[in-house]
Amino acid sequence: MHEPRKIIIDTDPGQDDAAAIMLAFGSSEDLEVLGITVVAGNVPLSYTSRNARMVCELCGRSDVQVYEGALGPLERPQVTAEHVHGKTGLDGPVLPEPTMPVNPQHAVDFIIATLRREPAGTVTLCTLGPLTNIALALQKAPDVMLRARELVMMGGGFFEGGNITPAAEFNIYVDPQAADLVIRSGIPLVMLPLDVTHQLLTTKARVQRIGAIGTRAASVMVEWLEFFERFDIEKYGSDGGPLHDPTVIAYLLKPELFSGRDCNVEIETVSELTMGMTVVDWWRVTNRPANVRFMRDVDADGFFDLLIDRFARL
Ligand code: BDR
Ligand code: CA
Repeated sequence: MHEPRKIIIDTDPGQDDAAAIMLAFGSSEDLEVLGITVVAGNVPLSYTSRNARMVCELCGRSDVQVYEGALGPLERPQVTAEHVHGKTGLDGPVLPEPTMPVNPQHAVDFIIATLRREPAGTVTLCTLGPLTNIALALQKAPDVMLRARELVMMGGGFFEGGNITPAAEFNIYVDPQAADLVIRSGIPLVMLPLDVTHQLLTTKARVQRIGAIGTRAASVMVEWLEFFERFDIEKYGSDGGPLHDPTVIAYLLKPELFSGRDCNVEIETVSELTMGMTVVDWWRVTNRPANVRFMRDVDADGFFDLLIDRFARL
């Protein structure tokens, strides 16, 4: 028996964030969720906070504490994605409003206090939204943040281009200044970009397998996925849409599903045309040092087998 790996999930739910949280909860032998911190992203903070608690309650995990963080990006005006996720961020099925309270501690203080308390190199930060909370923690306590074991993020894109602008992926675009601080922080970083997530389509066959699990949580997930994919099906003309955020949790559980390389990544923070672009030196054409483990490929069937197996354990 191994000790479960300690993680903090920083998130802006979002249907795919919900799938990531559910994957973590279904993997309690491997992962201990120390807390969930929420940030403004797909929708404003009041909704991401509500949604995170809704997912906890759906999974029978109202014991997990939810902490509210940044109301918006460090410098830029807030950009949201209701056109993808619906007005609440978790549109689709009608669910009861959550009753569990928000923990009154600020998300940034929770992150710092947790990294300070736990032995250095034991806590993994999992980010599924804009990096504002992490950047604020870095501004407040840079040395403490270096105690993180690693930070695994869903964000960026290179060979696939962007999804919110031709050049930028949503999580990085929303707060490029925050992403830039994180990238320069010295925390070991793993990036799961659109290059990976666009290989993970929620095809009809895969969604049916989730439905066949037969639990309430699984059927709610099917409704979330069906709502979420409608936008991408129209956009990409594919059978199903890409599933982004669970890649972060899947990477912790089965890194062998993913392949990539260590390389230099820089964030565009000046040009409006390419704002938030992740400039990846994949071919090592500069001598800038590697600062990110950038993933490019994934075993899609292996990923969905894992997801479905863990959803079924809830
Ligand atoms: C990312 O943006 C959000 O809309 C999703 O939840 C995911 O985190 C994909 O670009
Ligand atoms: Ca997200």
